[in-house]
Amino acid sequence: MDQALTEEIKRLTSLGLHRRCVEGALEGVAAKTLEINRLKKEKNAVVCAHVYQTPDIILGIGDLVGDSYKLADDCRKTTADVIIFCGVHFMAETAKILNPSKKVYVPSKNAGCSLAEAITGADVRNLKAEYPGLPVVTYINTSAEVKAESDCIVTSANAEKILRKMYEKHERLIFVPDRFMGANLAKALGKTPGKDIILWKGTCVVHERFNPELIKVYRKNYPGLVALAHAECPSELINAVDFMGGTGDMMRYVESTDAAAYLLVTECGFGELAKLRFPEKNFIAMCRLCPYMKSITLDSMLALLKDPSPEEVTVPADIAARAKHSIDKMFELAA
Ligand code: 13P
Ligand code: SF4
Repeated sequence: MDQALTEEIKRLTSLGLHRRCVEGALEGVAAKTLEINRLKKEKNAVVCAHVYQTPDIILGIGDLVGDSYKLADDCRKTTADVIIFCGVHFMAETAKILNPSKKVYVPSKNAGCSLAEAITGADVRNLKAEYPGLPVVTYINTSAEVKAESDCIVTSANAEKILRKMYEKHERLIFVPDRFMGANLAKALGKTPGKDIILWKGTCVVHERFNPELIKVYRKNYPGLVALAHAECPSELINAVDFMGGTGDMMRYVESTDAAAYLLVTECGFGELAKLRFPEKNFIAMCRLCPYMKSITLDSMLALLKDPSPEEVTVPADIAARAKHSIDKMFELAA
């Protein structure tokens, strides 16, 4: 076997990837990660990988790894010429807005997001006309056009902190597009949906349908279990768990605690990564796959690196400038 391939298999094995491959399959994965990492270097490209990607992408080819907030922050600082986003389209658009001189690509045409698709710029303009003077606080899972109509962007990592600050100056505000996250935030802040916080009807197809009754069953079967859920889950589910947060908060919670077992209520990639990062801990993944995130594979990365032009992410300059304003507001208030 070629020396470089042998070394790559060793590297992937040291990261624990052999544990998620069937017999003999690691060699095929290594051949792809080797080629992708070679092409990346040649193009001075950096690969961003959201934690919902598969471990072969995150550990095999990812350079910048994390939640939406960390990846946006990393992208505005990168000095690479090219950003390849293994995540969903709104994340890549955000990277382009924050670092417009870079070429930005997503290795899939299907990497949308049900939340981003739930609202348009025209919807936000209509809301502003219906509730004149109210600030629009927008979850990052939205298009550039929606961000351009907003006053401030938030991610799951900073939404509560930023809303708290916004309420120091405003009695009421509009929060779009995730109605479950909006309701969870309202509860945490002692606010009433419809009165203090105007919500939209968007939902995440992954987090909207977990069954809270199952959590009771898991608790009975696994004494000492700690249940964690993403803030995009409905309130009935959040009421049944011990911790609510974004993926970054959830990972830090797991790292800094010592429970008998962790029940992770979110996209399946998160649990796979947690198992590899903390092999000594016990995890139960009550998970669902995100079809958008999972449309990216090592093969689609290879295809992109060989012919990137069809997958370039662009944002019209006027929209980008207005959207950047609301994203910069997030960085200011989250600091
Ligand atoms: P995080 O920012 O918490 O990683 O969330 C992104 C996302 O799409 C969750 O579904
Ligand atoms: Fe969008 Fe939900 Fe997928 Fe996250 S998990 S990218 S919110 S559809």
